[in-house]
Amino acid sequence: MLELKFKEIPQDTREAMIKSLSDNQDHYLPTVEAIKEMFDCEETHILNSANSCLIAIAEKLPEPIIVADQGGWNGFIKSCELFGKEIQKIETNDGIINMEILKSRLKKNRAKSLYITSLAGYTAPQPLKEIQEICNKYGVLLIVDISASVGNPEIKKYGDIQVASTGSPKIVNIENGGFINNKTRKIELNKHLIKSLKADNITCAGIRNEIKKAPLIESKTMEMNTYLKEKLCETLSHDNIHKIIHPTSKGLNTIITAESKKKAKTLANHIRQEINIEKNIITTGPNYNRIKKASIVIETKNLDITSLKKENMKKLSELILESIEKLDNES
Ligand SMILES: Cc1ncc(COP(=O)(O)O)c(C=O)c1O
Repeated sequence: MLELKFKEIPQDTREAMIKSLSDNQDHYLPTVEAIKEMFDCEETHILNSANSCLIAIAEKLPEPIIVADQGGWNGFIKSCELFGKEIQKIETNDGIINMEILKSRLKKNRAKSLYITSLAGYTAPQPLKEIQEICNKYGVLLIVDISASVGNPEIKKYGDIQVASTGSPKIVNIENGGFINNKTRKIELNKHLIKSLKADNITCAGIRNEIKKAPLIESKTMEMNTYLKEKLCETLSHDNIHKIIHPTSKGLNTIITAESKKKAKTLANHIRQEINIEKNIITTGPNYNRIKKASIVIETKNLDITSLKKENMKKLSELILESIEKLDNES
């Protein structure tokens, strides 16, 4: 049995949150300042969740709005639907924006905004530099959901608007909250919505304490997930059914295709039985937020930093491979 720990609010951050209940201090503004500094941004708002941020953003977006056909965030599409905004899906390479397709789309149609997650399905980086350049060229507003990249020092360069979740299980893991960086201020957000959906003081105290750890958590999660992918690739690189999606890309989870949706569920159950953990780290697809193929997703991002060790990743890869073999023998 592999013993792992699911991500939870770290003790020191829990204590900072409890302290905020009685210290009579405003934690909103200092936390906004910390975020502004980290992302080189002049206008930041902290709301009660990233989905709330997306509602506030969606209200003001010029349309049509382009989104990936998979590997994005369904909550954004739902936010746009609230305001009757026109959404256009664009074909991707397993969630990664195909620059040729994007270029020809922008050349011939009148898209005004593009929403993307910094990592497609949390598994592989989007070509952000190229996407930014083409959006600038065609005057398209770029919204980058950086939930998967908080802590990455490069991320501050991209997007007219950035949005991030500090919910659970995220890099900044407060179980609540999210923020908007209105970097280029090309749109003006609705003050009433921003005020109504504002984060509480306890959440802000938590984010303030936790955000400084983001570079370490982001890089450690990525390093361990890359190791897990490499270990799995050693065996699966010749398997035509169980293929790793974006095998050499650096992400926060590992997606392995399966023969069918049913087999993916069975495989996920087999693996879960071998792991002792409070909550789930193995999800299954097809899933718009990951990949629209029968697959299992090893959500390395859901692991507590204390479990992000090579020995655990090695054992996890062995368990996954054994479960795949067991499933093959059953059929
Ligand atoms: C990429 C992405 N964006 C937005 C959200 C929404 O976050 P929240 O739970 O803070 O509303 C999530 C949540 O999982 C997410 O993964």
